[in-house]
Amino acid sequence: MKGVICAGGLATRLYPLTYATNKHLLPIYDKPMIYYPIKTLVEAGVDEILIIVSGPHSGHFINVLKNGKEFGIKHLEYAYQENPKGGIADAVALAEDFADKGPITVILGDNTTDANLAKPISEFKDGAMIFVKEVPDPTRFGIVKFNDHKEVIEIIEKPAKPPTNLAVTGVYIYDNRVFEYIKKCSPDFAGRNELEITEVNNRYLKDNKLKWATLDGYWLDCGTFDTLLTANLYWAKKGGYHE
Ligand code: G1P
Repeated sequence: MKGVICAGGLATRLYPLTYATNKHLLPIYDKPMIYYPIKTLVEAGVDEILIIVSGPHSGHFINVLKNGKEFGIKHLEYAYQENPKGGIADAVALAEDFADKGPITVILGDNTTDANLAKPISEFKDGAMIFVKEVPDPTRFGIVKFNDHKEVIEIIEKPAKPPTNLAVTGVYIYDNRVFEYIKKCSPDFAGRNELEITEVNNRYLKDNKLKWATLDGYWLDCGTFDTLLTANLYWAKKGGYHE
């Protein structure tokens, strides 16, 4: 399994911090944010990684990550997303050659978790796998809607009236169909003028190819001042990032 980390975007919600550098290089306690998703992948046995960057500070990554050897990465690649506001699905589209017809595990570069993904990755066969987690602020996320049989019937991006408080985390496993689905996505899907990963997940769902599980462990995205602070406090209390 190969891994893809989406580390682009302008992170305007974190201005003025992100005038200086890319969000994914801001500190989470004792390490840059992106160390955490890298660690999650490497610990799950994923050592071929593509990092997708965009925006004015794209060049900063290479100074920090170099060739990835110190993380146990066997092969590290970078891709540049031309439109930093293109959305997550637009970023993932750049992984098509890298995936080389195989499956990929995608992690958003601002998601920190201590969940171990080794099992779901090794057991993955086909389709898509999403991981959900309860959140106190469901209007900020992709949210799952269930029928009476606890089957997911829709994922709604940033719903004004959330049907549940179960958020789709930024951890996804996809078979190679993902690239075909992305080509069908529309920037109008959630009214943000972006290609949404939630549209991709809904397309898998419609074809009966979406599975879900609860993410087992701590998880937080660090896209706002408050979540950035919470993640810093969590990892500091845990003793920081362990090599
Ligand atoms: C993105 C996804 C959303 C998901 C979230 C997880 O949101 O669009 O579905 O729940 O990541 O971090 P964004 O960071 O673009 O606001």
